[in-house]
Amino acid sequence: MSAAQPSQDVLLEASDLHAHYGQSHVLQGVALRIARGEAVGLLGRNGMGKTTFIRTLLGQVRASGGRVSVAGRDMTGQPTERIARLGIGYVPEGRGVFPNLSVRENLVMAARPGTRGQREWTLERVLKTFPRLAERLDHGGGQLSGGEQQMMAIGRALMTNPELMILDEATEGLAPLVVAEIWRVIGLIRASGIASLVVDRDFRKVLTHTDRCVVLEKGRVVLEGPSAALAKDEAALHRYLGV
Ligand SMILES: Nc1ncnc2c1ncn2[C@@H]1O[C@H](COP(=O)(O)OP(=O)(O)OP(=O)(O)O)[C@@H](O)[C@H]1O
Ligand SMILES: [Mg+2]
Repeated sequence: MSAAQPSQDVLLEASDLHAHYGQSHVLQGVALRIARGEAVGLLGRNGMGKTTFIRTLLGQVRASGGRVSVAGRDMTGQPTERIARLGIGYVPEGRGVFPNLSVRENLVMAARPGTRGQREWTLERVLKTFPRLAERLDHGGGQLSGGEQQMMAIGRALMTNPELMILDEATEGLAPLVVAEIWRVIGLIRASGIASLVVDRDFRKVLTHTDRCVVLEKGRVVLEGPSAALAKDEAALHRYLGV
């Protein structure tokens, strides 16, 4: 077997990924690998390209260069739905729930077995994970509080039995108790063996909930390493995250 062969363990790989908005070169050659079961944090100040990177991975922003592969398959420029079918659950910035459908419908319509046929995340398990949703099953998605909508968005992604969960600012704008609840679930997801890519303003929380972090600055990776080591590197945190 050649060493260049893609490893079964690499779930997602981006290499030399570029993206533009008009003339603006927003992603300037980003590389990232996520292995099965690995929790990875994506850090960087506002406007550094975190959301654009995620949207380019998922085919929502056109890659102007580079490659995205999922489970060893080249998926560059493929439609989001096809990429998601390879086992990616995405909780976008701003949630993306269907306001006119009930909580139950929102969850059930997302249900499918995972790429290995796993069906661990059922409606029952999602409701056990988020008891608040169980109390509001017949409410419309649009009647939920911001926190409940976020729980539903995470629940919907889990219903797809993903190999990888991508969470972009999942705690944004939520009350402290709800924020704590979301982090608890991010911890559960990690413990269950699902890989994750986590973006959040609270970088200390990202560092404690991940194995490894990548820091973006102006569309480039400027730092990468084990989260535990980075958490102690005050100079780097100051330099790249401005604290
Ligand atoms: N749809 C768009 N059209 C044009 N420029 C955009 C668009 N979306 C983002 N940008 C710009 O691209 C750059 C990267 O934005 P992006 O949203 O990826 O950053 P981010 O790291 O996710 O920031 P934040 O922490 O604020 O969510 C910023 O300069 C932003 O203003
Ligand atoms: Mg963003």
